[in-house]
Parts: sequence; structure tokens; C-alpha cells
Amino acid sequence: MKLTLFTWLLFFCCCLAFLIIAHANQINYLDKLINSRTSDNPPRPDTWPELETNNESSQVYIGPQDGLMEADKIDALPGQPEGVNFDQYSGYVTVDPTAGRALFYYFVESPQNSSSNPLVLWLNGGPGCSSLGYGAMEELGPFRVNSDGKTLYRNDFAWNNGNYLISQGLQLCAWQSCWTLLLSIGNALINDYDNRIGMLDYLWTHAMNSDETNMAIHKYCVPDFKSRQCFNAISQSGAESGRFDIYNIYAPLCHEDEINNSSTGSIHNFDPCTDIYVDAYLNLPEVQKAFHANLRKWYSCSGDMDGRVPVTSSKYSINSFKLPIETAWYPWYTNEEVGGYVVGYKGLVFATVRGAGHIVPSYQPERALTMIASFLQGKLPPTRFG
Ligand SMILES: *[C@@H]1O[C@H](CO)[C@@H](O)[C@H](O)[C@H]1NC(C)=O
Ligand SMILES: *[C@@H]1O[C@H](CO)[C@@H](O)[C@H](O)[C@H]1NC(C)=O
Ligand SMILES: *[C@@H]1O[C@H](CO)[C@@H](O)[C@H](O)[C@H]1NC(C)=O
Ligand SMILES: *[C@@H]1O[C@H](CO)[C@@H](O)[C@H](O)[C@H]1NC(C)=O
Repeated sequence: MKLTLFTWLLFFCCCLAFLIIAHANQINYLDKLINSRTSDNPPRPDTWPELETNNESSQVYIGPQDGLMEADKIDALPGQPEGVNFDQYSGYVTVDPTAGRALFYYFVESPQNSSSNPLVLWLNGGPGCSSLGYGAMEELGPFRVNSDGKTLYRNDFAWNNGNYLISQGLQLCAWQSCWTLLLSIGNALINDYDNRIGMLDYLWTHAMNSDETNMAIHKYCVPDFKSRQCFNAISQSGAESGRFDIYNIYAPLCHEDEINNSSTGSIHNFDPCTDIYVDAYLNLPEVQKAFHANLRKWYSCSGDMDGRVPVTSSKYSINSFKLPIETAWYPWYTNEEVGGYVVGYKGLVFATVRGAGHIVPSYQPERALTMIASFLQGKLPPTRFG
């Protein structure tokens, strides 16, 4: 069974605010993070720079807010199912009006208790892959696209479907308000060397590479991937593993010529051709209009999509942090079945979702929902049946 990982680092709950703050300070924080990773005496988080709370000296652009909410409210998405009982919003958040920069967002409320439930900001990686096309339409959003590329069906395990009480996290106060911040990273690429060697070991431990090739990799690709012999061993690894979906090694591939465009999708059985349906849907002018988006060709990724991050890679990286273990490894449960495994380190929780591919909620929607619900409540996932 393939395990993919979901790493919980800090804690995160509020969202647009987080995004704005991250923008203003991201270079500072990135520098600090890189320094803390490379120095022997990493700075403690409480010595990090103060967040900017004064409007005047802030570099953050906050434009007039009047009428934005009403303007961004979605009447209905084309082809959405009957009986939608929550509000949806989408549009642009201006980041820098002089440079003409804005971020597109899609926001879905909970059907109930929407003002007290935590706000989750979901960002896909890639880098450069769409959080709308992947996150919202293929993973955790309220709808999935049918194979006709025109209509939607309901995701019963959508993350806006729940009642969450936040109990703990990192308090952040700015602009006269306070938020509890929680941060969770799925399939985190932590360091490039560990990721590559972890990927190759993952193939070997899943009976997709020969012992000889794996031994050659460990002989020639240490401490880096630069030698000619290492290059040859990696080519051999590729030839041995064949053509398969690197994002979910046991998933079927998409056969475009076999698409039945009059069938309805199922949340329990992720369709390997989903990218095609989402691409068709998000490129319909009426859909772009309903989302209040500028009409243009929509692409799923604008960058290099080399984000394959297996559980072995994450373990190698986390092991290199040498963090003490606070909660020993245990299986967690959903529906009387193992949903995955979890181990709690000091300051970091490592959790896997059993049987999931890279896009975790697509393949294991119920297990993913159980995990995020525990996470939002500041708890480890359930230890027992039921
Ligand atoms: C920042 O500006 C907003 C709106 O312009 C105002 O309501 C708020 O009081 C200001 N905050 C501070 C800390 O000055
Ligand atoms: C809404 O919140 C209240 C108070 O926390 C709770 O009793 C109620 O069950 C919640 N409703 C739903 C649908 O979760
Ligand atoms: C559905 O499939 C039929 C037969 O292959 C084709 O003629 C039709 O154009 C397809 N419809 C869409 C919306 O792709
Ligand atoms: C396509 O799906 C529809 C609805 O599920 C079904 O009635 C039809 O037989 C399917 N067509 C093919 C060619 O599989």
C-alpha cells in the first residue's frame, strides 16, 4: 500500500490575513528560515522580527473594502448540483495596484456555523500549480467535475463540511485582532537530496527497481547526484520501473479514448482523467464569468511540476532534524480501518494517509477529512475504531 505523507509543522487557522502578512515579511522569514537551517545555533522563533502592525509604515496594500463581498459572491457555478446550502465567493485580492498584481481566490463557507468555524487557506504546490484546479476542484472543495467537463457533482467529504473548535495553536495579533495560526504541509519537499534518494528508495521498497540498481544508486549517488555512474544508475531505475503514475503508483492511467462523457463521477473512485474534465470546465467562458475571473485560457500549472514527494523522502528529512519523539508511532483510524500512521515529534507531527496518492483527498477523501478535522482541533488523529 502506498503511503503519502502529510506533515504538520506549526499551526494555522486564519487565512487571508495570513496571506497578507506572509507577503509583507516573506523575504525576512525566508532568510531567517534558511539561516536557521544552515547555522549551528538557529535563532529561536521568538527572536524573529515583529510583525508590522502599524498601517502607516506597513508595506501591505489594503484597498477600500466596500461592496467587495457582495461583488464577489457567486450566484451559482454552472452545472452545480441542486440544493447547495452554503455561500461561495471568488474574485481577486489586489496585492500591488501599481504593478497590477492580484491573487485570485475562491472561498467556500460552511453550511452551518460559518462565522465560528476556522478559516482554512489552501495553497497547492508545484511550484506554480493551481489551488483552484487541483485543491478546490479535485481534492477538498465542495464539487468535482463530471466527465462531460460541464457539470459538477458533490464531494461528501469536502472540508467546509464540519464543525471545528480550535483549542490551541500559535497566537498572532495584528491590526487589532488576534488569530490562532495552524500550519500543515502535505507531501512537503523539505530538501532536494533527501527527496531524490527517498524517491529512488521508494521505488526499490515497492518492488519497482532491482536490488542491483538500488545498490548502484547508493554507491554512486552519495553525497550528490553528479557522477556519470550515478546518472547511469538513475536511467536504469527509470527503465526498470516503466510507465506508471508517479503521483500514485497503484492508480490506473488515464485512457482518453475510453472516456464516457455521459457518466457521473464518484467521490469514492478517483477518475484518472479528472485533469481533463477540470481543464474543460475551467475554460468554459460561463464558468470563468461565474467565478468573476478575467476571461482567458486557464492552465493547471505555470511551473515545473516535479513535485513527487514520497514518504521515504519526508522521513529522511524529518530524521535529519533529530527531534525528540513525544508520541510514539501509532496507527490512526477512520471507519474502523487504519487511516494512516502518526508520530509526534517535539514541535512537529508526521502523519500519513494510507492508500493515498500525491493529491491526498482525491484518493482518500474520508481519511483526509478525519485528519484535517483532528488537526484543526489541535489533536492527533483518533487512536481507536469508530
Ligand atoms: C488600520 O486601518 C484600518 C482601516 O483603515 C483602521 O480601522 C485601523 O484602526 C488601523 N489600525 C491601526 C493599528 O492603526
Ligand atoms: C454549531 O455550533 C454549535 C455550538 O458550538 C453546535 O452546538 C452545533 O452542533 C453546530 N452545528 C453544526 C451543524 O455543527
Ligand atoms: C461525448 O462523446 C461523444 C462520442 O464520443 C462525442 O461525439 C461528443 O462530442 C462528446 N461530448 C463532449 C461534451 O465531449
Ligand atoms: C456511459 O455511461 C452511461 C451512464 O452511466 C451508461 O448508460 C452508458 O452505457 C455508458 N456508455 C458506455 C459506452 O460505456
